[in-house]
Formats: sequence, C-alpha cells, structure tokens
Amino acid sequence: MSASQLSTKHLLGIKYITKEDIELIFKTATEFKDVINRPIKKVPSLRDVTVANVFFENSTRTRISFELAERRLSADVVNFAASSSSVSKGETLLDTVNNILAMKVDMVVMRHPAPGAHHFLSKHIDANIINAGDGTHEHPTQALLDAFSIQEKLGIVAGKNVVIVGDILHSRVALSNIFCLQKLGANVMVCGPSTLIPKHIEALGVRVEHDIKKALQWCDVANVLRIQLERQDIKYIPSLREYALYFGVNKKLLDTLDKEIVIMHPGPINRGVEITSDVADSSQSIILDQVENGVAIRMAVLYLLASKKA
Ligand code: CP
Repeated sequence: MSASQLSTKHLLGIKYITKEDIELIFKTATEFKDVINRPIKKVPSLRDVTVANVFFENSTRTRISFELAERRLSADVVNFAASSSSVSKGETLLDTVNNILAMKVDMVVMRHPAPGAHHFLSKHIDANIINAGDGTHEHPTQALLDAFSIQEKLGIVAGKNVVIVGDILHSRVALSNIFCLQKLGANVMVCGPSTLIPKHIEALGVRVEHDIKKALQWCDVANVLRIQLERQDIKYIPSLREYALYFGVNKKLLDTLDKEIVIMHPGPINRGVEITSDVADSSQSIILDQVENGVAIRMAVLYLLASKKA
C-alpha cells in the first residue's frame, strides 16, 4: 500500500526522500494531470496558502511551471528575482528570505547558485522549502518529472536502462536523476568525455561509458544534457564542434541502432551541439511531454508538502 503523506516537510533533494515518497508524488501528479487537461484547470487545494518563488539564477521552464502549478492550485503567488532585488545592495540570503516570510509566506520555491543553500535555510525558517535547483548539486522536481515521463511512456521505470549523456560534472539534473532512477529500480549509465564525468562516480552505482554509440545501444532511454557553458571556468572540451562530432545525438547515429530508444532533454537545448533538431523534434522525443508533466509534478509536490507542516 502506498503512503498517504510525504516523509518530509521540505523537498531539498531526491537523496533525502524515499521510494514511497516518489510513488506518492507520481500518484498525486497523475490525478492533477487529469485536472489540468479539463476545461476548468483550477482546484481550490492551496487557497489561503502563499508561495514565494525566489530565483537567484535564471530560469524559464522551472519558474513558469511552478507559477502555473501554484495558480492552478489557487495559491497566492509572489515572484522574486535576485537581479531586480536588494540582494544587489548586499542583503544576505537569510535576511532576504526572512523579510519575505514576515509578509506571511507559507512556502518558498528557491533556485540558488550555492549547493546546500536550501539546507541552510531549512535550519532557520519554518516555511516549506522546495529546491528548484542549487548550483551543481540537485534539481529534484526535474528528476521527478523526468522519471514520471519515463513511467508514462514505458509503463514502468524499474529494470529500464537509462543513459544520461553530456556534461555530468556540472549538472544538478544528472545527480537528481541518478538518485531518483535508482530509487525506482532503473539501471543508470552516464556517458560523456572523461573531463565532464566526475571522478569516482561509479561509487554511486552507475556505469560509465565514453562511446556514445555503445551507450545508446545499451539504453531504453537517453536523457541528453546540454553543455553548461556558463559553469565552465576552464576548458573541458576542445570546441563545441568537436563535442557535437563525438557525443552529439543525431538521426544518423540513431539509425545505426537495432532498436528505437526514447529521447529526453531537460532543456534549454543547444540545438546542433548535444542534440540535432531532427532528433529533438522527432516522434522518439518526449521533450515536450516532460515540460507538460512538470506542471502536474510540481502541483503534486506543492500540494503534498502544504499538508505536511511538522
Ligand atoms: N530544465 C530547467 O531547469 O530549465 P530552466 O533552467 O529553464 O528552469
């Protein structure tokens, strides 16, 4: 029997939640997906709950998806972007968030460049905290929507072979996906140039492959990540052209496989670098399903955390 409430009052990372938590989030998201496909997409579940979306880093998908999820649950929503705030005048993270909370905010959805920023906040404030990405550490709702999309497409996650291709070193999506997929019983491989694969990553129980063709032949699902140019303080690859040549996922490469695999990408896409348009926009791709599922997953997370105060 599945759990009826989450084991935690915050979503700080997939590492800190259980398989039962993930299954409850998926069950709740399935119900909310029905809701958002109805002509009237709103439910009153979070009426009188105020949510602050606090973004210290840029975002398109995650910020819009959380805001839509909050509004569809009838929450009151405030948006905060660090670039247009008093952070630029030297205000600390704790002072910023405490000032927002003094306005009677119940939940904080935060993206921050510092790994662990959400853990720090959770020790100092009473509101529910949801990690919308902390540096190169975790991006839990992305991993949840990714695994939910695999389950929707293939019926089950357990036993499936999933390869995460690309810049694993700088990717919070990779780490959260590894934790989430393993908790659900999938086999996980990472593939990329050795400079972009963290040393000792095998200790997490993942396989490592540097040959993209072998990796794609092994997998049922390929989750293709972008090269994070903004996080590359030194040169990890000779050029984007060379990366595309050796690790880019393109139609010609997929045509050499003896099966059809599912293609995913968390976005934003660098078309022509890690993936070509004829793959990203093909019938094998579930990239836009991932985006659609993101709203239902975030509705489920907000709803379940709001009812878990202690
Ligand atoms: N996938 C993802 O986190 O995208 P954004 O940076 O646009 O939110």
